[in-house]
Amino acid sequence: MKNYITTPIYYVNGEAHIGHAYTTFIADSLARYSRLIGNETYFLTGTDEHGQKIEESAQKQNKPTQIFADEISATFRNLWNEFDISYDQFIRTTDETHKTGVQAAFEKMYAKGDIYKDFYEGNYCVSCETFFPESQLMDGGCCPDCGRATTIVKEESYFFRLSKYEKPLLDYYEAHPEFILPKSRRNEVISFVRGGLNDLSVTRTSFSWGVHLPASLNEPKHVMYVWLDALMNYVTALGYGTDEANMDFWPANVQLVGKDILRFHAIYWPAFLMSLDLPLPKHIAAHGWWTRDGEKMSKSKGNVVDPREVSQHYGAENFRYFMMREVPFGQDGDFSQRALIDRMNSDLSNDLGNLLNRIIGMSEKYSNLLVDSADVEKFHAKELNDAHAVLATLEPYFYELQLHRYLEELWKVFSIGNKAIEEHAPWVKIKEGRTDEALATVALVANLLAKASVMLHAIMPKTTATIADALGFEITTESYNDLIIHKGLLKPFTIKKVPPLFPRVEEPLMQEAPKAMSEEAPKVELKQMDDKKVSTVAEEGVITIDQFFQTSIKIGTVLNAQEVPKSSKLLKLHVDLGEETPRQIIAGIREYYSAESLIGTQVCVVANLKPAKLMGMLSEGMVLAAKDSEGLSLIRPEKPRLSGSSVG
Ligand code: MSP
Repeated sequence: MKNYITTPIYYVNGEAHIGHAYTTFIADSLARYSRLIGNETYFLTGTDEHGQKIEESAQKQNKPTQIFADEISATFRNLWNEFDISYDQFIRTTDETHKTGVQAAFEKMYAKGDIYKDFYEGNYCVSCETFFPESQLMDGGCCPDCGRATTIVKEESYFFRLSKYEKPLLDYYEAHPEFILPKSRRNEVISFVRGGLNDLSVTRTSFSWGVHLPASLNEPKHVMYVWLDALMNYVTALGYGTDEANMDFWPANVQLVGKDILRFHAIYWPAFLMSLDLPLPKHIAAHGWWTRDGEKMSKSKGNVVDPREVSQHYGAENFRYFMMREVPFGQDGDFSQRALIDRMNSDLSNDLGNLLNRIIGMSEKYSNLLVDSADVEKFHAKELNDAHAVLATLEPYFYELQLHRYLEELWKVFSIGNKAIEEHAPWVKIKEGRTDEALATVALVANLLAKASVMLHAIMPKTTATIADALGFEITTESYNDLIIHKGLLKPFTIKKVPPLFPRVEEPLMQEAPKAMSEEAPKVELKQMDDKKVSTVAEEGVITIDQFFQTSIKIGTVLNAQEVPKSSKLLKLHVDLGEETPRQIIAGIREYYSAESLIGTQVCVVANLKPAKLMGMLSEGMVLAAKDSEGLSLIRPEKPRLSGSSVG
């Protein structure tokens, strides 16, 4: 199957930010997944370089427009290269082949009678490169999309007969309910079209930085409307109007866009395609908007998240995982370092990283690093079946772009692995001489990790390649078929000792963003308080949510408990926090609990407390308890939870 995936092409009037990175990460994941399962895949991204806005930005910097566009376009391409984005083509609207293709399209629409010449007078927003009818303007004649002032422009213009396509578009939406994703956005588009479509002005004479009309029209003053120029990139990239070499990739399978540009992609774009007698893409998929720490990002606030900075501090793939996992596709998302750190520590470090560390540790101790799947089915058929059942449900989530659900489900495989280690405690079996069983558990977990890594590959390509390498295989379509489709097991291999892939992050690694809005608000409040001679007591004794989350509280399972000699108060506990080795915790609870009664029970542990010595013994955490006049009671989860689960 041929699978064509596109991102929007990014304006070259500023550098890439988190919103651009998000679309590109999703598209890259879709493309990688598609290649993995054996589809012939073409992934397009690029830059949108024409229009008045770009011309003006270049002038402000005193640079020739082409040089300015070259520089910014290169920053996008470099960033994607740094992020290992697997695009097949990086198109620029200043490419000659693109320009020729757009002219060919214009000619075809004109010949068909879908483009005609007239005059246009209207309120034009330079920033959005769009005309708006009076009825849509905000107070003071401002743009309804970006809020900036619009200007009245009267000019000779060519028009595209968008009105002609009102009914065909509505019929198309009706017949193809999956055309606009997520479905919740579909109604929005339909009601817009039902409200009536005006013909669209598709040329400009007020500036010259754009694609010129085809020579056959002899209109040197006119350049093309940037949205006509830009949207056409999706087919000119495949050779439309030039060599047509890759046109068999058309129609695209998924075209990703942000919700702000859905109208252009779900109305104008299909109308242009209908006019060109080209089939429509299968899905136009609109994602939500990212904010930072709950605030809209803007250059003036200085709170724009720079994807390079995040990746330098936290790792590109961890960042990428976070973005996909954190936000359901289509909904708005919030970037905060706290949320990123939590995902890294709990999902990546605890669930995934520890699993690898544990099997490396155990196979080193028990089998000289050799892992053999021979006895896995004999001792662990249930776990294997459970994992295969989970893996079999994953694929549709990818097609529906529900990547957060995909990952959530995939993580169940790690839970099966972690649980198997706890329940089958290979270290006990080894002591009992049941070596076959112990090694089968280690091999089971290695296989689960291998299978899950194959399915995580599209989202974390390098990390999973490292895991696969440690487990003696390579992630390819062949291994996907073998391990996932045919449910095969790993051939015997010597596990490679890799350093921990996800060291825990204890505190934010980047400087926090300036809080433009919230800085102003408290100032006013404090002043009022001063005026009324009210002290700021209310502020004292209160912590922020971020301060609370500095404490890492986890569920621990007590593996062992002993009385501390010569102490009437202390017990020595060995508590499993889902890490490679259990923690030793010295707890002052002997007056209330006997050592035996604690073994096998769960407790809540402060896990990031600096280790301390009590009666000469190291204590690596603190168990939580509540005490009143009637005694002391440990704080425990209401139902058993996996060791290492975060409390909070
Ligand atoms: N050049 C046009 C697209 C033409 S496609 C034929 C454009 N460029 S853009 O650079 O302004 O925006 C590109 C994408 O970034 C859009 O999909 C937009 O939704 C996305 N984002 C810009 N800011 C964003 C956030 N804060 N959050 C999420 N995505 C956002 O529009």
